Order: sequence, then structure tokens, then C-alpha cells
Amino acid sequence: MDINWFPGHMTKTKRKIEKDLKLVDAVVEIIDARIPVSSRNPDIAKLITNKPRVVLLNKCDIADEKATQLWVDCFKNNGIAALPVDCKSGKGINQFVPLLRKQLSEKIDRLKSKGMINPCMRVMIVGIPNVGKSTFINRISKKNKAVSADRPGVTRGNQWFTIANCLEMLDTPGVLWPKFEDRTTGEHLAFTGAIKDNIMDIELLAVRLLELLKELKPPMFISRFKLEDVDLDNTESDKLLEIIGKKRGMLISGGEVDRERAAIMVLDEFRSGKFGRITLEYPEN
Ligand code: G4P
Repeated sequence: MDINWFPGHMTKTKRKIEKDLKLVDAVVEIIDARIPVSSRNPDIAKLITNKPRVVLLNKCDIADEKATQLWVDCFKNNGIAALPVDCKSGKGINQFVPLLRKQLSEKIDRLKSKGMINPCMRVMIVGIPNVGKSTFINRISKKNKAVSADRPGVTRGNQWFTIANCLEMLDTPGVLWPKFEDRTTGEHLAFTGAIKDNIMDIELLAVRLLELLKELKPPMFISRFKLEDVDLDNTESDKLLEIIGKKRGMLISGGEVDRERAAIMVLDEFRSGKFGRITLEYPEN
């Protein structure tokens, strides 16, 4: 599957992030809880050196709860603070500021010991497309209306808003590029909607997703498409797309199944969590 992410685009976004990173004391990395490996930028550690970091496992409302907890523990074991959140409903967001403060406490204490009273900290959001960066910023900025301008001497054009006492956030997120290391990563990004559909073969993608769903057999997938009478283990995914299209009455003239429409529907329903809470990637141990 070809994924369009031009090197030129990547260089431009990287430069912008490097510039913004100089302005902040900590970084908040948002990833998709359904694909914590594929939705992480491969160069994140190199980009953020020596800065406290918080990982937000977003969309936890549509990820498997147990898997998300395994990921939180996994990050913790690797010395990274992680928090599951659902930016759509706001679940988990209340724990964000206390966790961030904890990561910043060493720096704050250091500055205080040097005589600074109430040192103010600045943070920025980073993440690959579609992980929920804007949703998070909207949610947290609505709760905290006060917007402050740039400090003198700092790049013009940046808007900061106060998220808590002496804690400010940059209102534009850093858009990172995903990794394109292997076919599985590309597919997982595409299944979850991180990659635009118009650059992919939508039918092929849906067939690949059905391959996975056939293995996982989520009960809600089976009941939504009334597949109780289908022997999933012995049905080709290509055929399964036809069966699903027919069951939903997606036919074109001549009685043939409209495969493209059926493919779009399968992908849409998966992306919006209609087949239940499904995590595609688990920690190794
Ligand atoms: P980005 O800035 O990182 O590119 O992501 P953005 O906030 O635009 O969110 C991408 C999609 O993910 C949006 O859906 C958004 O509603 C959805 N989303 C964000 N956070 C969550 C979450 O915690 N749970 C779930 N289930 N979805 C989340 P969309 O289909 O593009 O738009 P819409 O459905 O909001 O209209």
C-alpha cells in the first residue's frame, strides 16, 4: 500500500516542531490507544531530548480497556508517564494537569531553589494526524478560556492559553509524521483512519480489515452484519465483503454488490467503534 507523505512535507513540519520545542518545558504526546505502536512517531525520542513528557492514550473509549491498562503499565515501566483519555467525552482529562505537574516538579523545584517565585511552565502537544490533538486542545482550552500572548523576545504568532495556575499550553499542535516501516503499520494506520482514504485502494483495505476481524471475531461485528450463519474461518475475506454488502442491501444494477460502498461502510463502522472496543496492538510482554 502506498502512503503519501512527502519528504519535503516532513522536513517542514520537523523544523516547525524543533522551533516550538525550544519554547516549552514539557511535551505531551498524543497517540491512538488502539494502535500505540503505529501511531507513535519513530523519531520522537530524538526530537524531545531532556524534556519531561506525558503520553496520552487517546480514544480509549473505543480501545480495549485491559489492553489500554497494559500500555499504561508498559510506558510506566519504561519511565514514561501515560494517561488513558477520551477527548470526545472528556473522560480522564481531569487527571492530566496533576500528572503533568508531577513530571515538571523537578524543574519547578530547581527554579524555586534558585529564588524564582511561582515559575511558569509551558507545554505543547505533538502527535501524528488524526490522533485527536485538536479535540484535546479544544476541550482543554474551553475549560480554560484565558489566552495569553507571546512573551517578549519569543517567536511572534504563537498563542498560549492557561490550563492551570502557572501552566500554559501552545494552541497549535506539532503535527508529526507516522512511521511507514512495514505493511502492518501502514494497514493499522489506514484501518483507524490516520491515513486519507483517497490515496488507498479502499476495497483492498476493507478486505484486509475483514481478514483481521475474521480472526478476532468481535461479537458486535458478527451481530451487526448478521454473520451468525457464516463460517468465518472458511470464508475468504473477499467473499465476506460481498456477503456483508448483500446483507445490507448494497446492490447495483444487475444485482451485483456495490463493493466500494460496502468497503466504505465496513471501514467507517470499525473506525467509529461500532464493532466494540478493539485494540490492534499489544505490548510485547
Ligand atoms: P488531529 O488534530 O490529531 O488530527 O485529530 P482530531 O482532533 O481532528 O480528531 C480526529 C478524529 O478523532 C475526529 O473524528 C475526532 O472526533 C476523533 N476523536 C478525537 N478524540 C477522540 C476520542 O477520545 N474518542 C473517539 N472515539 N474519537 C475521538 P472525525 O470523524 O474526523 O470527526 P468528527 O467525528 O468529530 O466529526
